[in-house]
Amino acid sequence: MKDIRSIVRGAGAYLPARTMTNKDLTKIVDTDDEWIVQRTGIRERHIAAEGEYTSDIATAAARAAIENAGLTPADIDLIVLATATPDYTFPATAVTVQERLGIEQGTAFDLHAVCSGFVFAVTTADNYLRCGKFKRALVIGAETFSRILDWNDRTTCVLFGDGGGAIVLEAVDVAEAHGRGVLASRLRSDGRHRDKLFVDGGPSTTQTAGHLRMEGKEVFRHAVSLLSDVIEGTLDDAGVSADAVDWFVPHQANQRIISATAKKFGWPDEKVVSTVGQHGNTSAASIPLALDVAIRDGRIKQGDLVMIEALGGGFTWGAALIRW
Ligand code: UT7
Repeated sequence: MKDIRSIVRGAGAYLPARTMTNKDLTKIVDTDDEWIVQRTGIRERHIAAEGEYTSDIATAAARAAIENAGLTPADIDLIVLATATPDYTFPATAVTVQERLGIEQGTAFDLHAVCSGFVFAVTTADNYLRCGKFKRALVIGAETFSRILDWNDRTTCVLFGDGGGAIVLEAVDVAEAHGRGVLASRLRSDGRHRDKLFVDGGPSTTQTAGHLRMEGKEVFRHAVSLLSDVIEGTLDDAGVSADAVDWFVPHQANQRIISATAKKFGWPDEKVVSTVGQHGNTSAASIPLALDVAIRDGRIKQGDLVMIEALGGGFTWGAALIRW
């Protein structure tokens, strides 16, 4: 078998037009800007318009990524869409995106690992590409968490937002990759934690979509050590030291989790891409949304070493190291 690397060809993102500030939330639940900013770092989030679905957000992000890669939809033969808020129970939202992009070749499927979805999707696509099954993969994280929030529950509704981001991964001969590509990744899950962050509905149980429920303090308590563990493992697998990492692009759930994790690896604020203030927690979309911001403002450049990580419902968690 040829030695293949999955390199990043392009990236893109999409945010719904409507923003909701912390002040707007004070009209809905008993909360205040100071509490939300101090405990989470979140200042505002985007909320999908009525009739705007996860597939619309994913398709817009995918189009931007394909264009940024200098490709056309005809070049894509794999779509992996990470989402916990699909349009429908089935078919997979990925096939709607496939149809909307006019892609008739290859395959498309959804991947469900909640907030860790993008890291799982990158790893899944990378494995398919490296085994020679597909040539170019669209890896998307897209969510409409506003639809599964209990807007009477101040402990959760202030935390989340909607949006989507995507990257295009391409299989190239390792000799032509010039060191670029997905270098290593680690994925974990532990179902013993599944009742700490879950949705209380579903087709097989309640026949409803349900609402998000979270024991925030419990999730927080585990987050930094579990994330540090997979980051360390990923660095080890790649044979790279923490100092060599140029950009830390974590899941955007809470600024305190982001800062504490970065501190463990000696990454200063200047190396940390944080968008939690503007986007809130957009689950599987948060990493590709943050990547897009840092690419467009000139921080992440070709050849940079980028560490992504996330933890979410399940728990699921993981990290991946990419030479951009
Ligand atoms: O993406 C998936 C992974 N998710 C996460 O990583 C989330 C992890 N958890 C967290 O980020 C934090 O635990 C939260 C931001 C959710 C909560 O922060 P905390 O420092 O753990 O606060 P807490 O839950 O201990 O609540 C402290 C107080 C409580 O009042 P009492 O019981 O001390 O009187 C809450 O009732 O803050 C109160 N509170 C609020 N006050 C104003 C909870 N939510 C709010 C609110 N506004 N929105």
